[in-house]
Amino acid sequence: MDSFIVRGGQRLHGVLSASGSKNAALPIMAATLLSAEQCLLRRVPNLRDIATMATLLSSLGATADRDPKEASVALNSCALDQFRAPYDLVKTMRASILVLGPLLARFGQAEVSFPGGCAIGSRPVDLHIRAMEAMGATVAVESGYIVAKAPRGLSGADFCFDTVTVGGTENAVMAATLARGHSTLRNAAREPEIVDLVQFLRAMGARIEGEGTDTLEIEGVSALHGATYEVMPDRIEAGTYLVAAAATRGDVKIDGISSEVLGVVIDKLALAGAEITCGEGLVSLDMKTKRPTAVDIETEPFPGFPTDMQAQFTALNAVALGHSSVVETVFENRLMQVHEMRRMGAEIDIAGDRAQITGCEQLQGAPVMASDLRASASLVIAGLVADGETRIDRIYHIDRGYENIEGKLQCLGADIRRIST
Ligand code: EPZ
Repeated sequence: MDSFIVRGGQRLHGVLSASGSKNAALPIMAATLLSAEQCLLRRVPNLRDIATMATLLSSLGATADRDPKEASVALNSCALDQFRAPYDLVKTMRASILVLGPLLARFGQAEVSFPGGCAIGSRPVDLHIRAMEAMGATVAVESGYIVAKAPRGLSGADFCFDTVTVGGTENAVMAATLARGHSTLRNAAREPEIVDLVQFLRAMGARIEGEGTDTLEIEGVSALHGATYEVMPDRIEAGTYLVAAAATRGDVKIDGISSEVLGVVIDKLALAGAEITCGEGLVSLDMKTKRPTAVDIETEPFPGFPTDMQAQFTALNAVALGHSSVVETVFENRLMQVHEMRRMGAEIDIAGDRAQITGCEQLQGAPVMASDLRASASLVIAGLVADGETRIDRIYHIDRGYENIEGKLQCLGADIRRIST
């Protein structure tokens, strides 16, 4: 397994380009199952999860040809003849559940291994299933598989999600595009990645209104055609580098990202003392070598503060001036990075879903272990501002969601290298 060796003390400085969004590319790749024609996706990040989704689609009989140099994927499911997403693949990537809606909508059947929990929580999919049932599918769980059937196709439905769910909204909107009649999805997720998925579906001929709001209106059509589409930039990747720049008191410019999709993250960085400049497709941050000021965080569904940026801000607050609280309201176990940061001298107390942080001038380098994707990124940030060397083990978590993170950080002046252990 690989590890990172990080030596702290370097201010990040320079320019980098945002990669395509993992959390937009994954549902969009699944959505290509809705058409029997070729789709070409551009600005697809070169990540483990993207490779896993390509493998899953290929296991169903689709073609998924990735060109990492071009950051493109050509997909075609005209010859698809399997409808079962196997346990071995689903267990490595929960987003495999996103083939449920498309397979059911186009083929009237789907078998998806019941995704287990993960480090950050139990991750139920009950609302995905209830949305499919609302559209007329029968769904059973048999030997660890979700077995969904709609032999006469799906029918439009008026469905309200009990909880805002990104994946649940994505499965339901994909299924509704080929359902007979009209569907209304209420309390829908509003994330920019949902907007991107809807724009791709519309490019395929789907009839959808309301993306970015909590109510989606979909008029089912008989078939969808192929499309070429450029995936949106990764707002969480961009946000992660901005936080790393703020924590190291540096100055970084990120091109290919808009301040709109970064939203409240920009506001929080400004509150932390960063000088933020937003231009046409670029965001720059300059700390003027000042130590950041601690900021309170409470995660919420978009447009609230993104849970995927919580761990990174925990690292920032750990070295910021003052006291702060970080409250995680979306997932039940997403403060694990705190335990590893404490090993680096961070002064953080946890009570339930809340972390109370007293910023230190500097952390101490130490061997630490990654537990999930965003917690791993927060440990890299902590290592960048620690005195001495930090070794981060189990960085396969990072490779799932950050394209060439060590290369990008090295370009910004960080002392980080990958070793095989
Ligand atoms: C997506 O996960 C993202 N993953 C996550 O990013 C992100 O943290 C999350 O949305 C929230 O923004 C991808 O897009 C691939 P949810 P998802 O369904 O869809 C509960 C990363 O780091 N819920 O919005 O699985 C659930 O327990 C990853 O890139 C139900 O109760 O998240 C949670 O408390 C991590 N029943 C809340 O909703 C359901 O049927 C939000 O989960 C579904 C969800």
